[in-house]
Amino acid sequence: AVLILLGPPGAGKGTQARMLEEDFGLVQLSTGDLLRAAVAAGTEAGKRAKAVMEAGGLVSDDIVLAILKDRMAQPDVARGIILDGFPRTAGQAAALDALLAEAGQRVTAAISLEVDDEAMVGRVSGRYTCGTCGEGYHDEFKKPAVAGTCDKCGGTAFKRRADDNAETVRERLKAYHDQTAPLIAYYDKLGVLERIDAMGPIAQIRTGLGAIVNRVS
Ligand code: AP5
Ligand code: ZN
Repeated sequence: AVLILLGPPGAGKGTQARMLEEDFGLVQLSTGDLLRAAVAAGTEAGKRAKAVMEAGGLVSDDIVLAILKDRMAQPDVARGIILDGFPRTAGQAAALDALLAEAGQRVTAAISLEVDDEAMVGRVSGRYTCGTCGEGYHDEFKKPAVAGTCDKCGGTAFKRRADDNAETVRERLKAYHDQTAPLIAYYDKLGVLERIDAMGPIAQIRTGLGAIVNRVS
């Protein structure tokens, strides 16, 4: 299966993609994570992406596609993938279709996580992750069971993203509405669009997504 999670910053793409990985054995493929790894490693692509990401804009299609193709060439993607944060432009969507077609595949479903923009500023600003395993948390909505200790790996070091401040989140929301939201109509035309209300509790959305995945795959 090739699943796409569409939604603005804070919609829960990463949170739910990691759960779908657990529930269905699929592989999460986040271009945001891949780009942050490139920035941290100081690669040429990372150097070009850094300032754009910190300002809340979209990294150019050529950089994103090169990074994505590298990742798609790895053998584990054969288990099926959940694309989290990709595609984000019409050009990326067309490139994905072409890449899949080469392998005789197509998008199974593009799932739009529907949320209120205003709530996203609070969700993103309160977010932090485990520095060891990457598990995501939130100051208010998803605290570890034992304060200061990761539920998943027991790690005690946590980190926050450089672009998770209210001002940059508003830029990211704008980029989403200008460049990514039109993809909802694109996938609707292809007959693979699914929508889910993503304002409820995390566990409830996980169940709803699970039902969609079972139905389409
Ligand atoms: P990326 O890393 O993709 O960030 P994003 O799209 O802005 O999405 P987020 O990671 O902020 O949100 P999410 O939907 O994953 O929410 P999460 O599950 O963490 O991209 C970052 C940057 O990289 C971009 O700005 C761009 O510059 C660049 N980039 C990446 N891909 C690109 C591409 N394809 N093309 C060009 N540029 C690209 O949840 C957020 C918080 O809310 C968490 O704390 C979570 O615990 C909490 N939460 C989740 N669900 C709920 C819920 N239902 N109720 C309450 N709290 C919840
Ligand atoms: Zn951890």
